[in-house]
Amino acid sequence: MSDMPLEEFRKNGHQLVDWIADYLKDIEKYPPLSQVNPGDILRRIPQTPPQKGEDIENVLKDVDKILMDGITHWNHPGFMAYFNSTSSGPGILAEFLTAALGVNGMLWKTSPAFTEHEKAMMNWFRQMVGLPENYWGIIYDTASTSSMHAIASAREQLNLGFREKGMAGRSDVPKLKMYCSEHAHSSIEKGAVTLGIGLEGVRKIAVNEKFEMIPAKLEEALNEDVKNGWKPFCVVATVGTTSTTSVDPVEKIAEICEKHNLWHHIDTAYAGVTAMIPEMKWITKGWDRADSIVINPHKWMFTPMDLSVYFTRKPEILKQAFSLVPEYLKTKQDDDVENLMDYGIQLGRRFRSLKLWFIIRYFGVEGLAERIKHHIDLAQEFAKWIDGEKDFDRMAPVPFSTVCFRYNPGNKTEEELNRLNEKLLEDINSSAKIFLSHTKLNGKFVIRLTIGSIRHERRHIEEAWELIKEIATKLK
Ligand SMILES: Cc1ncc(COP(=O)(O)O)c(C=O)c1O
Repeated sequence: MSDMPLEEFRKNGHQLVDWIADYLKDIEKYPPLSQVNPGDILRRIPQTPPQKGEDIENVLKDVDKILMDGITHWNHPGFMAYFNSTSSGPGILAEFLTAALGVNGMLWKTSPAFTEHEKAMMNWFRQMVGLPENYWGIIYDTASTSSMHAIASAREQLNLGFREKGMAGRSDVPKLKMYCSEHAHSSIEKGAVTLGIGLEGVRKIAVNEKFEMIPAKLEEALNEDVKNGWKPFCVVATVGTTSTTSVDPVEKIAEICEKHNLWHHIDTAYAGVTAMIPEMKWITKGWDRADSIVINPHKWMFTPMDLSVYFTRKPEILKQAFSLVPEYLKTKQDDDVENLMDYGIQLGRRFRSLKLWFIIRYFGVEGLAERIKHHIDLAQEFAKWIDGEKDFDRMAPVPFSTVCFRYNPGNKTEEELNRLNEKLLEDINSSAKIFLSHTKLNGKFVIRLTIGSIRHERRHIEEAWELIKEIATKLK
């Protein structure tokens, strides 16, 4: 009736590490984008669970047999879609340890090392991205969760009794409005939906030709909404938008937020880690004036899913919004420590900060910055190749490592170009050599290529460019 015998665990553990090392060694033998059809994997898994136990060796064999061709390999250097999320060696090892320790950091008491380690890592990370000391940090699973907590704090700051009385059916409170650019991530609207603000409570501000929020339009919208009885309460600026990686004018937005007394949240889930690079410090202008900021190490800091870092200058408001302590969770240390369950919706918490510890110590801040800088340099080079090719258009500036482009061999209507580029992307992805994603900019179908994998080398970008040109020419 006991657990797996430790000798068996040791043997299986060694086998699994060997499997992982071989997988990473051979990663380029797999197609980056899984080519299976819906239902293919499900059909291979028995519909009923086994009544008797079996060896882990069998399970490992089935990982290969059943799952592997249904895996889209985010660790593959041909994966240049969305924003990369790659697992580095130290990150994988830290995940192992997290599971082995199996602690739940809901309270300081339920593992003092957890709470204090997370605090230390937040202090390290805050310094790495150049935020001032008055920023307090916490780890959540994703940027979507982090931003939802920012919006909840913004709502709580109004002191309109939402925590006690809720929002529905009340005639004593105004309808709330928040603001972000047309290019903000959908997680901002999801946060608004979750918190009872509703989609009508989110106003999208127009962007300029570089896809950056226009501050004058924000002012205009605020004044108009106040006139019409809305209560503005929060503005989200994005540094590194999802489609084009554009950078909203944070300092100007900070001024507007201060003038109108609004919560200012910065979503820099993807680009925030570049603040580690001396040449990229410009992106942090005005960050010290924000109320909160989210950065995702699981996007571009080689951290296995998931790990999102949330900083705020007002942790007391987060606590005011979420702290609710039933009798069984009261401890003697409550007045002297931070219990992380008080700062969000979740009670149980995984020991995610171990991943930051392993990764930051293994690579060092300089090593991380060098790797990220290399990706930015490669993307600038790729952008130049696009610019130098008459049949390709670059569709947006490239402040970081994502390049938006389309194939345009001439003499085609916009509609034809959209269809052509959609087909080009389809053919590129079914080549099973690289995986790119798309967006639409001003109605135009645009292909996106992102460089951010820990395994990205110059040759991968060169090969991708040759392949794109080769497939495009066949479509002409
Ligand atoms: C700017 C931005 N914010 C937030 C998110 C959501 O990230 P997560 O998957 O961590 O919720 C994304 C995802 O790509 C993003 O690009």
